[in-house]
Amino acid sequence: MFNHEELKVFFQGKIVDFKDATISVANTGFLYGLAVFTGMRAHYNEQQQKLFLFRPEDHYRRFRFACKLMRYEQFLKNYDYDRFLGVLLELLSVNNIEQDVYVRVTNYSDENRVTPKFVEYKDALTMFLYPLGDYVPTGGMRCKVSSYTRSEDNAIPARAKINGIYVNTAFAKTEALLNGYDEAIFLDKNGHVVEGSAENIFLVIDGKLVTPAVSDNILEGITRRTVIDIAQDEGIEVVERTVDRTELYKADEVFLTGTGAKVSPVVEIDKYAVGNGTVGPIAAKIQETYMAAVRGELERYKHWLVDVYDR
Ligand SMILES: Cc1ncc(COP(=O)(O)O)c(C=O)c1O
Repeated sequence: MFNHEELKVFFQGKIVDFKDATISVANTGFLYGLAVFTGMRAHYNEQQQKLFLFRPEDHYRRFRFACKLMRYEQFLKNYDYDRFLGVLLELLSVNNIEQDVYVRVTNYSDENRVTPKFVEYKDALTMFLYPLGDYVPTGGMRCKVSSYTRSEDNAIPARAKINGIYVNTAFAKTEALLNGYDEAIFLDKNGHVVEGSAENIFLVIDGKLVTPAVSDNILEGITRRTVIDIAQDEGIEVVERTVDRTELYKADEVFLTGTGAKVSPVVEIDKYAVGNGTVGPIAAKIQETYMAAVRGELERYKHWLVDVYDR
């Protein structure tokens, strides 16, 4: 494990010391949550002595769309995929990373003003590295359906990873933790299942994988996409559709997916056992395949990886 505050970060177009990457107390992004982000992981394969960044181009595409939504002109003008990837690779190599690492990439409103808006303001890109372990328990967690409703597409859209929407997440996560659960599951205003507080959700019903559709106020998760591909390769049918709350209590298996959460089975929801209350076979299989894929152990999924040192 490393101390992320001792590493170099990317800030104002340069690689600088962590302590020198500071923003003003009047920064508009800080004052109003006006920023977008993505979080990605790179995994170190000890045997191959390689560091593999997971699906950076997919992260870039989603991040670029979020910047478009926020009218972040500097990012859109200055960062095509090659330049974005170049910064990522430089940051990892300048810090000599040879272990698992999480990369937090943020583009924020870079003005010191008190009107929240997306015009006439500069924006800036920053990146830092973080030693993120398991974001949630991976061996079978207990969840609570949140009393907080997920923000709607027409309020703060979940489709873009907008910093401000994580207030919604923090309310739900805090409520779950204070009540003794590991994680929260959001419903939308119609009572349909949306996602975890920072994860997408999958249910196993009659041997099929069921997950809310992209038009159901979810973040279009990169791990979600990955799990759909892995499941289909395993011959498991995947259905993207609206999910009712009580289907959570009826499902044979439930698991959450995310860059932080990886593939994390849920064994209990609102004190109902999921299936027989233990990790189910489909969740276990997908979890195993996902972990092998991100670590570069499966030839079939090597196209998802960028070899950071390419040596
Ligand atoms: C709200 C939310 N949903 C889903 C996800 C999963 O997305 P991804 O798999 O791209 O990390 C995340 C975060 O990582 C999230 O914050």
